[in-house]
Amino acid sequence: MNKLNPEMLNVVPFVSVDHMMKLVLADGVEATMRDLVAYLEEDFRRWESFDKTPRVASHSTVGVIELMPASDGKQYGFKYVNGHPKNMKDGLQTVTAFGVLSDVDTGYPLMITEMTILTALRTAATSAMVAKYLAPQDSSCIALIGNGAQSEFQALAFRAILGINRVRLYDIDPAATDKCYANLRDKGFELVRCESPEEAVEGAHIVTTCTADKQYATILTDNLVGTGIHINAIGGDCPGKTELHEDILHRSDIFVEYTPQTRIEGEIQQLSGDHAVTEMWEVISGAVPGRQSAQQITLFDGVGFAIEDFSALRFVYDKLRQHEYYQDLDMIADPDDPRDLFGMVMRAAQTAN
Ligand SMILES: NC(=O)c1ccc[n+]([C@@H]2O[C@H](COP(=O)([O-])OP(=O)(O)OC[C@H]3O[C@@H](n4cnc5c(N)ncnc54)[C@H](O)[C@@H]3O)[C@@H](O)[C@H]2O)c1
Repeated sequence: MNKLNPEMLNVVPFVSVDHMMKLVLADGVEATMRDLVAYLEEDFRRWESFDKTPRVASHSTVGVIELMPASDGKQYGFKYVNGHPKNMKDGLQTVTAFGVLSDVDTGYPLMITEMTILTALRTAATSAMVAKYLAPQDSSCIALIGNGAQSEFQALAFRAILGINRVRLYDIDPAATDKCYANLRDKGFELVRCESPEEAVEGAHIVTTCTADKQYATILTDNLVGTGIHINAIGGDCPGKTELHEDILHRSDIFVEYTPQTRIEGEIQQLSGDHAVTEMWEVISGAVPGRQSAQQITLFDGVGFAIEDFSALRFVYDKLRQHEYYQDLDMIADPDDPRDLFGMVMRAAQTAN
């Protein structure tokens, strides 16, 4: 039921793109990242209590449309999201999304929200949260390879969570790097525009790959990866869509979100199905260690999992009590007698006449 307005059973709060932007700007992007990480960590710690499944993906030759459900038994959330690397050339975004949070007790939706911006926020918050456990101590420099829609959010999340201020940018398309540079220029970062992936990773403690290409791409080759770094590989997230050369995987300790999904979609689709990986919830809950030595190469093979969207939905829903950035949608048919749905339609005809 609509807990924000319990009198109006037909109404579901809807967070538009405009309202999402106001919500984020009200507290600021970096404070939002810190809040989101708190919600994410809470849900990663109670990972085992979630009802979870690999996302349901519908592939075409040009992209994918996915549904991502998760439930903690009290609330249920799902996200609709697409991934179309070719979209950008047509002036469309690679990734768009919206989602729903529902009450498990009644099955009624609690909130509908845009999730294109929210996905960029939760993806960046997840990357930074993971790096907190895996990145080398005192990391101060990050390489961002792929300077598209996700990139600035990544930079801000790493500063919000790890205090990282030095950012080395590279994209195959210099216009993307120019855009990212311009967006971050007045935000107090030490920014370096790089001409190649080799230049970008020079001196970086953390390397984020966040590119979009519908193929087995090789954004990082083995010789680019020195000991002791943390790789945050988040752009490869579909069958046949990866970013790292296989040799890197053999030298790395690999951390994933939900193994059954990552085996299908992540960098580890290049490896045998029994290659050892660690799920991040085990690290975050303290059951197994994260980084264990300064020489270790840690790899977060991030594909995006439904529990992260669930955390993000919970976060937004809670925020709506603080900031009234939503509008009421007449979403649920609510006849006075719950069995008289038809009568309600007929009475509407009489009113119209
Ligand atoms: N893991 C997750 O949770 C998650 C969440 C959101 C998006 N993604 C994925 O992240 C990727 C980036 O998303 P986006 O919204 O920023 O896309 P985008 O299209 O806005 O940006 C992608 C950028 O990658 C660049 N690029 C492509 N090939 C490259 C190469 N070989 N070297 C360097 N740069 C290259 C493009 O020029 C572009 O600027 C997509 O593949 C998307 O599916 C993953």
